Amino acid sequence: MTRVFAIANQKGGVAKTTTTITLAHAFALRQKPTLVIDFDPQGQSATALGINPEPGVFNCLVSPATPRQYWVRTCERELLSILPGDRSTATAQIVLNAENRPIDAIAVALKSLVQPYDFVFLDTAPSVGGIQERVIWMADYVIIPVATEYLSVDSLGKTLETLQQLVQRGWKGKLLGILPTFYDQITKESRNAMDYLKKEFSNQVLPPIHRATILRECAADGQTIWEKAPNSQAGQDYDSLVKIVGKVS
Ligand SMILES: Nc1ncnc2c1ncn2[C@@H]1O[C@H](COP(=O)(O)OP(=O)(O)OP(=O)(O)O)[C@@H](O)[C@H]1O
Ligand SMILES: [Mg+2]
Repeated sequence: MTRVFAIANQKGGVAKTTTTITLAHAFALRQKPTLVIDFDPQGQSATALGINPEPGVFNCLVSPATPRQYWVRTCERELLSILPGDRSTATAQIVLNAENRPIDAIAVALKSLVQPYDFVFLDTAPSVGGIQERVIWMADYVIIPVATEYLSVDSLGKTLETLQQLVQRGWKGKLLGILPTFYDQITKESRNAMDYLKKEFSNQVLPPIHRATILRECAADGQTIWEKAPNSQAGQDYDSLVKIVGKVS
């Protein structure tokens, strides 16, 4: 059965893309057919996996004449595929909104495309708007990465509010958890942010991902942590998350 996970937070730079591609590659390595769909016009899921951003999502959503599977790309990793996005994804957003397409428009459009996969990870843009809600509607679970900094924690409320509104409209998915990222126990700001998250959201807080330069290097080289340094702290942190994600499916 296909399980769809959205990685969402309207704040930028909180490790949405890093988390998306790291989880996706982890399940592909565990012999699970896995698909990444990049709904962010920045197209960084593709670059983080070492391939070029392309108008995949745009074509699937806006010009469905060609079979949707045509736009899915491989990325030289067994069992891992990607439906990339690029700047044209922003146009898809405008079109969906202008045509006032229903909340389940994306879920319906991509239903048959995701079916062959065990795991589907949706990378999202740091913004609010029609496409974000329609993307989350498609997800069984949502992971909200939150950088352990004061302002990041502040913006978490807005993303949770979006989920709450979707639940009221009949969304059947749920929050898998809040993922503290860029955690650095040496800085007071990071510790305070972590304490706050635990106090406010207790069992919804996932084990943190520590700040790690190696993750930046992975992105620059188009490699995942499983290729570059699986035994590093970052690898161990993400491995804990993989185990949790694996359990719900
Ligand atoms: N735990 C970490 N420690 C250090 N650097 C990290 C960590 N996680 C991600 N990064 C780096 O931080 C930058 C932002 O991460 P990423 O692109 O995953 O965030 P994002 O939420 O997808 O950003 P955007 O909102 O722009 O899409 C990248 O350069 C990434 O390599
Ligand atoms: Mg991103």
